[in-house]
Amino acid sequence: MTVPHVRIFDTTLRDGEQSPGATMTSTEKLDIARALARLRVDVIEAGFPAASPDDLAAVRTISEQVGMFPAPGSGLHEPPIICALARASRADIDAAWEAVKPAARPRIHTFLATSELHMLHKLRMTRTEVLSKVADMVEYARSLCTDVEFSPEDAGRSDPAFLYEVLALAIRAGATTINIPDTVGYTTPDEFGALIAGIIENVPGAKDVIVSVHCHDDLGLATANTLAGISAGARQAEVTINGIGERAGNSSLEEVVMALHTRAPRFGVGTRIDTTQLTRLSRLVSSVTGMPVQPNKAIVGANAFAHESGIHQDGLLKHQATYEIMKPETVGASHTSLVLGKHSGRAALAARLAGMGYRLDDGALARVFARFKAIADRRKHITEADLEVIVREDVPEADDAFSLDALHVGCGTLGMPTATVRLRSRDGDIRVQASVGTGPVDAAYKAIDTIVDAHASLLEYSVHSVTEGIDALGHVTVRVRDRRGRVFHGAGADTDIIVASVQAYLRALNRITAMYRTEGSRDEAHAV
Ligand code: KIV
Ligand code: ZN
Repeated sequence: MTVPHVRIFDTTLRDGEQSPGATMTSTEKLDIARALARLRVDVIEAGFPAASPDDLAAVRTISEQVGMFPAPGSGLHEPPIICALARASRADIDAAWEAVKPAARPRIHTFLATSELHMLHKLRMTRTEVLSKVADMVEYARSLCTDVEFSPEDAGRSDPAFLYEVLALAIRAGATTINIPDTVGYTTPDEFGALIAGIIENVPGAKDVIVSVHCHDDLGLATANTLAGISAGARQAEVTINGIGERAGNSSLEEVVMALHTRAPRFGVGTRIDTTQLTRLSRLVSSVTGMPVQPNKAIVGANAFAHESGIHQDGLLKHQATYEIMKPETVGASHTSLVLGKHSGRAALAARLAGMGYRLDDGALARVFARFKAIADRRKHITEADLEVIVREDVPEADDAFSLDALHVGCGTLGMPTATVRLRSRDGDIRVQASVGTGPVDAAYKAIDTIVDAHASLLEYSVHSVTEGIDALGHVTVRVRDRRGRVFHGAGADTDIIVASVQAYLRALNRITAMYRTEGSRDEAHAV
């Protein structure tokens, strides 16, 4: 008997990127898209091309580099579908098509709101106008691309009878997937399951297309709602890694996939995800977006497989299944596996990185190798988790406005923590500043503020160790707000957490100054 297949539609690069401060560079998006293809997701929603020429270019690059061939090592015979989002307008749909058309399996995803609230106050359109726009725009998208998805935004709060009408029209106009978003995370699992069942039952043509679900987590119900939708017959789930996304986020890929996997007889459906890559993907997305994963997060949190109480430990020793419903290996959580040491050469490093999916050019490999050697001198074994942060966060970017040249701090119980920071500008200028602060990190950040003059305020600072042990790499994540209220993140890693803190802060300020540069507002980045 073949198990029905639920398609996993990953929207980390689109809805996920809408999390405040989670903006990613094109290179970071490409890295994540490659990793998603190796994870064997069915669809990658790569972005919203109408947002800017940069967004269009990033989606196009993913179409060309990830959407043309099956992912190496994935065992699949076809590449993932590459999808781009478009509002229901010709200009947006044209931009989406421009971005996905190089892919072997392109998809255009267009949407229009259908709740009274959205139609009245946001769109200022009548029901009749919405119906006609949906028909026109789906038909237009279908004239360009054979795979078209339509979403009635705020479906969770829409009048079901009107929703049926809209969806029937979208299917008649050529939509091949109809996606039902609970845009504001308002519904409960029983309501959402009933909504999906009602659509499949009442919408003409619904049984001939894929019905999809897209749930937000405002009430913490996104995963439960997604699973209720699947139980009611949905065959595509829109999810993000770590559940990142607009406001409280989306349904998390790892939770949905592992629920279907662990409770297979209960759901009776399967996915083709390689679950052993879930932990790696989680770390990658966390480091790229600067959004740490809470320790008690299901599936991928640091404590997800930690057993503290004596009773639990005793039970586990007697039989693993007493307190573990999944094995850590199933989700790739054995992050302490040894990989390399200080005697490992550049070729061994390159081979290991290739196994992790990183293809670095000679310049990048040389920078990573230099950092690897410096850390391997201080830390006996470098694990895959260490390598991941070294590659992602520990190596200066070629176009960084400032990089750390030297740091000295004085602190302790006698008061007046002091930091002297020496930064090198992109032009090679050296600037030195000393400051006093409430602690060594505060003192160092004050010194950097004086040199960089980016007018940023620190919103969040967090530090955790990458692996166990006193010599572990400390991983620091910061979020800062620029003078226009935009949020940027930065991360750094080092065995010295003050150094890691300085790298993280500089990375965030470099993102701000890079943004000012691309916007052409040199006044605001006058220190660069
Ligand atoms: O939450 C939402 O409604 C969306 C749509 C664009 C699918 O993200
Ligand atoms: Zn959404």
